[in-house]
Amino acid sequence: MTGTITVTRGNDPGAVRRILGSLPDWFGIPEANEHYVRAGARLPGYLASTDGEVVGVALVERHFPESAEIHLIAVSPEHHGKGVGTALVRAAEEGLLADGAQVLQVKTVGPSFEDEGYAATRAFYAARGFLPLQEHDGLDWDGPTLVLVRFLGVPTG
Ligand SMILES: CC(C)(COP(=O)(O)OP(=O)(O)OC[C@H]1O[C@@H](n2cnc3c(N)ncnc32)[C@H](O)[C@@H]1OP(=O)(O)O)[C@@H](O)C(=O)NCCC(=O)NCCS
Repeated sequence: MTGTITVTRGNDPGAVRRILGSLPDWFGIPEANEHYVRAGARLPGYLASTDGEVVGVALVERHFPESAEIHLIAVSPEHHGKGVGTALVRAAEEGLLADGAQVLQVKTVGPSFEDEGYAATRAFYAARGFLPLQEHDGLDWDGPTLVLVRFLGVPTG
């Protein structure tokens, strides 16, 4: 059972390593995971905790002042489907909009590669308001990568 979810800004590469290690169906390549662990120390991060334990992480990357990318999002499997991922996305969106970003992209495995886990991932992004933009072949792995985008809003500041 997942208690109250708290999302804070911060970096915790150890939590990135632990959470990715618990998700072999999505993050099964050790070298790729180490890339994310290093990114976990460097990129702006959001940490979701419940009962004092970090159970979800998101890393964001800013390519341009107007736009940003979710570089990584991952939630411990025993906490899936309980709102942790949604809380992380919402916190990142609020932080980015307050900092002037207007659009947010995320990349994931595309629908032309059949995989139940990534179908659930795409359903998560769709339910969070992300729209599919384009599927590319060989962008960041040998198979198809789907780029999704979401309009965040016009900055008020
Ligand atoms: C994708 C992920 C970050 C979503 O986080 P989450 O805490 O499970 O998501 P939430 O509970 O906030 O939202 C659940 C929604 O996601 C979808 N979903 C994805 N995986 C799910 C699962 N295992 N159980 C239930 N819902 C799931 C459902 O469509 C659900 O939509 P709804 O709220 O409209 O019913 C998380 O499942 C995860 O870490 N998956 C593995 C790693 C991954 O896919 N990372 C992204 C790689 S590109």
